[in-house]
Amino acid sequence: MSSDRENIQKTSEKLRDLIRIHDFLYYVEDNPKISDAEYDGIMNQLRKIESDFPWSITEDSPTQRVGGKRSERFASFTHLIPLLSLSNVFNNQELVNWHNRIEKLAGITPITYYCELKYDGVAVSLTYENGIFVKGATRGDGVQGEDITTNLRTIKSIPLKLVGDSFPESFDVRGEVIFPKDKFEILNKDRVARGEDPYANPRNTAAGSLRQMDPSVVASRPLDIFVYGIGAFQGQIPSTQEKILEWLTDVGFKVNPNNKLAKDLDQVENYFDEWVDRHQELNYDCDGIVVKVNDIDLRDAIGSLGREPRWATAYKFPSKTAVTRLVGIGVNVGRTGVLTPYAKLEPVNLTGVTIKSATLHNQDYITDNDIRVGDLVSITRAGDVIPRVVEPLVDARTGNETGFNMPNECPSCNYPIVREDNESAHRCLNLNCPSRGNHLLRHFVSRGAMDIDGVGENLISQFIKEGLVENIADIYDLTNEKLLSLDRMQEKSATNLLESIARSKDRPFEAVIYSLGIRHVGLETARLLANNFSNVDVLLAATRETLLEVPGVGEVVGKAILDWFEDENNLEILNRLRGSGLTFNKTESSPTEPSMQGTRFAITGSLQSMNRAQLESMIRELGGTIANNISGSVDYLILGSSPGSKLTKAEELSIKVLTEAEFMDMLSKP
Ligand code: IVH
Repeated sequence: MSSDRENIQKTSEKLRDLIRIHDFLYYVEDNPKISDAEYDGIMNQLRKIESDFPWSITEDSPTQRVGGKRSERFASFTHLIPLLSLSNVFNNQELVNWHNRIEKLAGITPITYYCELKYDGVAVSLTYENGIFVKGATRGDGVQGEDITTNLRTIKSIPLKLVGDSFPESFDVRGEVIFPKDKFEILNKDRVARGEDPYANPRNTAAGSLRQMDPSVVASRPLDIFVYGIGAFQGQIPSTQEKILEWLTDVGFKVNPNNKLAKDLDQVENYFDEWVDRHQELNYDCDGIVVKVNDIDLRDAIGSLGREPRWATAYKFPSKTAVTRLVGIGVNVGRTGVLTPYAKLEPVNLTGVTIKSATLHNQDYITDNDIRVGDLVSITRAGDVIPRVVEPLVDARTGNETGFNMPNECPSCNYPIVREDNESAHRCLNLNCPSRGNHLLRHFVSRGAMDIDGVGENLISQFIKEGLVENIADIYDLTNEKLLSLDRMQEKSATNLLESIARSKDRPFEAVIYSLGIRHVGLETARLLANNFSNVDVLLAATRETLLEVPGVGEVVGKAILDWFEDENNLEILNRLRGSGLTFNKTESSPTEPSMQGTRFAITGSLQSMNRAQLESMIRELGGTIANNISGSVDYLILGSSPGSKLTKAEELSIKVLTEAEFMDMLSKP
């Protein structure tokens, strides 16, 4: 080989190793050591070499995560060692019975157990040969799964190449793919902002993402993984579960940090007690703990019963469902005119929260589940952000229950309701519908959009009621006088409001596009549009073809944009906004370093001013990082109400604790 070729190979492999290290620190350890810009710099160097010398590209290169083509269907995959199921226990007595049986079978006491969380995600098996990820598959029926290698390669916490050389020649790693809760909330918020139905829960969304035929779509989903065991292998593996997981961590896999060795059953009970209280704090759903015999040889001696090993069991957390009466069904009209039915419930306590209403998604959901007014229904919050009616208790019916049909007229403006072909949603098409106006205004002033502080739900309703604001452009015509005409409006608040409104004029072009509330145009699409069309006139002149050239814009989004810009009312509003001085062209973002560069934050308790996802993305935007656990590397702990154990830990480590207000103060300091 010529020395030039060798040099290129050496340099690119060095860059790959460097990227692997930083991917590991960021995606597995949640402890990045370099800035995004530095990371991008290294990645770009590697991309440049690989594009100049395509022969130097390797299968396991970090540039090749989204490599595979769109496929029509997944190939079948046979698991050499089946993926087993777990037996369940639901209370302490059942756990004790399980343990007694094991001690008898093993003839040893006490047995050392290994405790893990039971992640509520999608089981997968990952095959490595000579340290390279070669195949990934779903569980399927335990023996026959589907080959989803190209999709799994896009998950950044799955190593494409392992660290070091201490691994068997070939082996399968088993784990659970999850959709982090904060990212799920953002995804759903974005969907709702685009006028789409929110997804039901993180687990279904993870499963749905992995079944996508186009790997680039999967790559856009922030999936993550926890590995918890080994399937088939050729060669040597460690002798206990604890050591196996330590070894998997060492070679680059993401293993959950909350696993714990239990020397006896008491310690298993303590682990359960801790997590039954704390699992809601985690950024992923868990529905119980898994108790495993630690010693691998002992497991073999204890054996399996059918599809379930006797040496492990899942101790489930108490279910988060409640039963109550459905007293009525109401209908909300959203910003894009979509009608969403919701259940009016007899108040009921569910995991400490009083629930009075729950979503019913759409007419199909009600029809398919045969939900009737007057029914006793079970409701849940398991993994769901919003409570949901699961099913009616059919046996408890008296015959007085009544079915439900969407109204033919909008409950807000009496305009006829339509349901378009192949859509689950019913829609009010009246652009001036007051309900739509109310939602659109709320969207317009929200964070991410025009970010107008101090304009909340109540004030918007007041604006509409008093005729001060009918549409989004009217906000910029508000004056001190008009504001002071409102009930209980103080001089000081009016001044503050006008200042926030004036400040919003500096919001970037992408935020303005997002704030218009165009169907299907969420933050990400707005950003793409702003990057591809330098100003609003170019965007106004866009055609179907030019829109389709924008990556991420397809027929549906393209049509929604064209429809929006064709509407006379919208054009008038746009012109008025332009006249008010909003930013309608792409300005280069300021080159100054973000103000929180390098600062590390942890968050605990429930927040008042915004949700956790919003706070986290704000910190990240300013260059800070988020820690899921308290350790010496954390600079500040932000404190919500009912804080968890992070507070005690932070106090132990003398980490500075900030209230939400103190954090906001910190932001406003230069
Ligand atoms: S061990 C024989 N460990 O639960 C051992 N499974 O009902 C079987 N799961 O499909 C798996 N967290 O996907 C194990 N810490 C954990 C787990 C876990 C979640 C899932 C797994 C499996 C299902 C078994």
